[in-house]
Amino acid sequence: MIEGEAFDAADWELLAELRKRFLGGTAGSADYWSDRRTLELYDGFFAARIGWKWEAVLGELKRRGFRPGAGPLLDWGCGTGIAARCFLRAFPEAGGPVVLHDRSDAAMGFAAKRLAEEAGVGAEDIRRVRAVTVGDVEADTTVLLSHVLSELDDRAVDGVVDGLLRRSGAFIWVEPGTYAESRRLIALRARLLDAFRITGPCPHEGLCGLTAEGMERHWCHSFARPPVEAFTDPVWSAFSKALGIDLRSLPYAYLAMSRDKTVSASASASGETFARLLGRAREAPAGLSVLSCEATGVHERRVRTREAKGLVKALKKGRSGPFFRWNLREGRIVGGGAD
Ligand SMILES: C[S@@+](CC[C@H](N)C(=O)[O-])C[C@H]1O[C@@H](n2cnc3c(N)ncnc32)[C@H](O)[C@@H]1O
Repeated sequence: MIEGEAFDAADWELLAELRKRFLGGTAGSADYWSDRRTLELYDGFFAARIGWKWEAVLGELKRRGFRPGAGPLLDWGCGTGIAARCFLRAFPEAGGPVVLHDRSDAAMGFAAKRLAEEAGVGAEDIRRVRAVTVGDVEADTTVLLSHVLSELDDRAVDGVVDGLLRRSGAFIWVEPGTYAESRRLIALRARLLDAFRITGPCPHEGLCGLTAEGMERHWCHSFARPPVEAFTDPVWSAFSKALGIDLRSLPYAYLAMSRDKTVSASASASGETFARLLGRAREAPAGLSVLSCEATGVHERRVRTREAKGLVKALKKGRSGPFFRWNLREGRIVGGGAD
């Protein structure tokens, strides 16, 4: 958020207009970074929330052994550059140059300034490109993509996949946790499985269980936890009220793939099933019901309170996960905990 600043009705109006474009699917048609105030407000509020999702994703990837290569970092469709900033905060050792890409020069300029201020990246280590060419992507380039899918048609996505991701060493693509975005990421996963290892979100390297028959209504998403300030700072409360946004709910979907053979799905200790909880646990008779992504597919599983009291409590609180190790009996979860 923008420290120590006052916001008025015009600011909330501007953010509401921007949001309408994003939700209405019209943001892809033209450059909307019309002035500096738009970039500042986006960065202070929407990008800050996106940053909380990146922190959740990067935390997951770190725990699973992902480490950046020595090559360049390319933030595709960078906007105000929140993805690159979060990445460099999580991995300050990533020493390569930063390539900022966007169709908007104003956005790239803003992103470069914020990167210098926050991550200390010098101007000589930042390049700005309006179009990515073959020479911009090296075999050890890490590509970041964030909240761009709804602005790209299938042809544009093809260009990103074949012209960019296939040439890179690793990529992390974070999107809102909606059905549409998750399903598009799942399709990308299937296309790229021949060339990359999965770094996240999957607990296995096989075909996505959500592509199986009967799974059509589900999608892969998790919830990030906003920082305390989101609930204590009056500016966040004014933002939430003015825009009708529930700050507690921060769903994300993502896909991270890497050529690095050392990064892989965690193996399960004997007797335990390694799983990712999809969405949230739901109330069910005598306990909870969870959608569990496992190597054998996606399963709807029950957890009974009398069989796994501690686990039910933890799942209800939603503070652990999204990776778990389950003890299963007759298809039910009877024990286990967060991985
Ligand atoms: C919703 S913003 C997300 C910005 C940033 N990645 C983030 O997570 O905050 C989408 C960004 O993609 C850029 N964009 C959309 N379509 C593009 C295209 N075809 N080529 C380059 N940039 C594009 C927009 O200018 C905008 O900066």
